[in-house]
Amino acid sequence: MYYEHHRYVGKVCIVTGAANGLGLSLTNRLVEEGGYVGALDLEGDTLKKAFEGREDKIFCVQCDVSSKASVDAAVAAVIEHFGHVDALFNNAGIIGRQSLLDSTEEQWRRVIDVNLNGTFFVSQAVLRHMVDKGIKGVVVNTSSVASQIVSPNTGAYSASKGGVSLFTKFAALEMAKYGIRVCAYGPGTSVTRITDGTRNNPERCAMFLQNIPMGRFGEPDEATSVALFLGSDEASYCTGQTWLEDGGNSLF
Ligand SMILES: NC(=O)c1ccc[n+]([C@@H]2O[C@H](COP(=O)([O-])OP(=O)(O)OC[C@H]3O[C@@H](n4cnc5c(N)ncnc54)[C@H](O)[C@@H]3O)[C@@H](O)[C@H]2O)c1
Repeated sequence: MYYEHHRYVGKVCIVTGAANGLGLSLTNRLVEEGGYVGALDLEGDTLKKAFEGREDKIFCVQCDVSSKASVDAAVAAVIEHFGHVDALFNNAGIIGRQSLLDSTEEQWRRVIDVNLNGTFFVSQAVLRHMVDKGIKGVVVNTSSVASQIVSPNTGAYSASKGGVSLFTKFAALEMAKYGIRVCAYGPGTSVTRITDGTRNNPERCAMFLQNIPMGRFGEPDEATSVALFLGSDEASYCTGQTWLEDGGNSLF
């Protein structure tokens, strides 16, 4: 699809999980709209390959969002490189598939550590910078339709995304007085590698599609459009909410 928007001209953004899927789409569209991106991802090599030759606009930093030390160093590196940060897109995430009875402590903790604790660590580092510099910025968190509904074997994921949506409210409440907005968006099942397991399993795929009134999975570009709106000045009176983008999945 072709979009004619210029909402991020000169804006410095951070995107976590920028090397693949929704984060890759988001980073590309932020640059198309005139922005600069500090692109963070655990997969350092994939990240570099994805944005090779575009170093004037995209600054890549290998980072594990579940580690506060790694996050603090990465955010500091982006601030040193571009001078400041206007917008943060917390996108890094993992799914994890284990039943309640079979989940190990390590599996449960990893999903919560990356999706929920990671969102907190990166938000705190960036928000401290924005408040300190008087930047009236914005944070867009990636929640999920799974913050509202559950499906078999993804309990830790739903719990983490429910946490992201409530964290978004909490952060929005505390940041409003600084002129900083904090929003979230909640994609439904979208065509990226974390849903390969669902989309390639005929039984599970049919079960998911049956619950999506629009009868299809979402494209990364469609999710990205919502994130870009929420992070832009067009959404200047929006804060604290999670905008579901799910083909109607949450209506059931
Ligand atoms: N695809 C969907 O159907 C869907 C639906 C709802 C929400 N989401 C959310 O969208 C976000 C992006 O997912 P995606 O579908 O693009 O998946 P993806 O696997 O294609 O991309 C996720 C990215 O996050 C990175 N990442 C994982 N752990 C990390 C860590 N500890 N530190 C830094 N980076 C890390 C990965 O390397 C990868 O590049 C996730 O938060 C996911 O939960 C996806």
